[in-house]
Parts: sequence; C-alpha cells; structure tokens
Amino acid sequence: MSNYVLKWLFIIRNKLIIKNILDLIEYILVHLVGVISYKSKIFGFFQVFSNGKLISKLRLKKSRALNNSRDEIINAINQKSFKYLGKIDDEKVEKSKNYFLNVEKIFDSHIPRAKKNNHINLKDFLKKKESNYASYDIATSINCPELDEICKKFKFREIAQKYLNTQNVYVYSINTMLSKKTDNQHGVTKLHRDFDSSNSIVFFIYWTPVSKNDGATSVLPGSHLLSHNKNFHKNFSDFQKLDYLEGPKGSIFALDTWAYHRGNPEILRNRLVTWIRYTAVPAKTYYLDENFLFKKDLNRFNESLI
Ligand SMILES: [Fe+2]
Repeated sequence: MSNYVLKWLFIIRNKLIIKNILDLIEYILVHLVGVISYKSKIFGFFQVFSNGKLISKLRLKKSRALNNSRDEIINAINQKSFKYLGKIDDEKVEKSKNYFLNVEKIFDSHIPRAKKNNHINLKDFLKKKESNYASYDIATSINCPELDEICKKFKFREIAQKYLNTQNVYVYSINTMLSKKTDNQHGVTKLHRDFDSSNSIVFFIYWTPVSKNDGATSVLPGSHLLSHNKNFHKNFSDFQKLDYLEGPKGSIFALDTWAYHRGNPEILRNRLVTWIRYTAVPAKTYYLDENFLFKKDLNRFNESLI
C-alpha cells in the first residue's frame, strides 16, 4: 500500500461507517489482548487505526512484562514515564546548537510541512510575533554533527530495545524544534498523549537550558499506564503532580509520550530541542507527517546506530 494511501486512510479514519467498522474491530481486539500475545502481528497492524483503547491495553500488557526488569533506567520509565539519562559536554552542545541556528530556512510550524509552503527564514521566525514553534526537516537533524555518536553514547537503541521489549526497534521520526516566547500558545501546551504507535519511546536532547519556568516539557508521572480518556486534559487540575524535564543545556531524557505531557507555555529564552522517536510497530505519524519522504535518510541513520 502506498504511503499516501495510508496517510489518506488515517485522515478518513473518523468518518462515518469507516469509524463504526474500525471501532467494532477495536472493541474485539481490546478483548483479545488478554488472550493473545501483545506482540501479535494483528495488533501491530491494527494499532495504527486505534482510537486509544487498544494502544492503552497493549502498553499496559507490555508494562507488566517489564515489571521484573532489573534495569534501573527501564524501571524508572516503566513507573514514572521518563528518566534523565545524562548530559552532553558543553563543547559538543555548542557545536550542534550552532549547526541548527545557522540553518537559513526552517519550517514555521511544530512539525515540518504541517502547513503548505511554510518555509521561513530563521531570523524572520524569531521576529514574527505569532510564531511559536519552528522545526527542521529530518535530513537536517540527521546531519547534525555527532548526533549518531550522542545516540550511541547514551544507548538510545539499547534502551529502546529493552523498554519496547523487542530487538526490532527503529527510529521513524527525528524532529528538532525551535520555540520562543509568544502570546500565541501552540496546542501542544495542553496535556495530551502522542498517538504514534502502541510501542514507542522518545529521546530528548535539549540544546539549550530549560527549567520549570522556562521551556521544560512537563509530564504526569506514570500516566502512560492510565486507560485512555480523550477528555483527560479538560478535567485535569492537579498541576502540582506534573514533573518537569528540566536541566542545563545538553540534558538528555527518555520519555514515554503515551504519558500525558505538555509543552511549557512559560518560555523566556529561545529553546532548541531534538526529539528522536523509536518504535517497534508501524507508527501512524510516520505517514501523517510524511516522514517517509526521508526514508533513505532514516534507513542510513538507523544503520549507523547498530
Ligand atoms: Fe506530544
């Protein structure tokens, strides 16, 4: 099936009849999670159409399988949804930061190509009042000096293999984002889950310092294990329960973005971060965001990390 056909299928997923059929299949599959292995191919295929219930069930089952892990990092992610992994040397951080800040044209959106013709000069983005997030395409991120070395040093692939509980993991998305102070809040500052796949993990590399009051992403610890509720953010008021992924420039975190999380509406300084996403099953956003346009770059990057 062509990549664009799949993209189109995800877009029409919530249209009448198709929605009813898919919801019925999901209802049946949710009840099969208890009796069939969560690694079954049928789940791996269908989870891209899930409205959230199947993904939650599969994640919960995987989490239980990891309960006896002796690995400190895996235990932390499995219980708290995230783990601080360490910090890159300042010299390397500056080199990468300068690489990104010297790219002339970027995308005036949270995800590259989220809107048509949304290229913008980096300088204009910084000046444009209503702009909040800019992003770099996958190839630009992959060409960041020493990115592969950083991934290897902090064992992203090994952590992904252990947390996703399979050897078959791969990077399907890399998004470097530049965000700045603005009155125009982006939707990602609302508490939400990322509907990427039923078995995925994200690694953050902060190229700039972030804190609770300045750009740090927040997460509700352990919430990747909650059943799915699409109105969760509307009824949520326990903001003191949120943890912040904060630290000096060069800080690295692993986060299960099925946990409820949000971008920080408080931002004082320009913030630059790269998110590297691993999955063990097909990821919906690979198609929706047209990451397949960078298939060769992603393949090359994945090979360099083995
Ligand atoms: Fe998100």
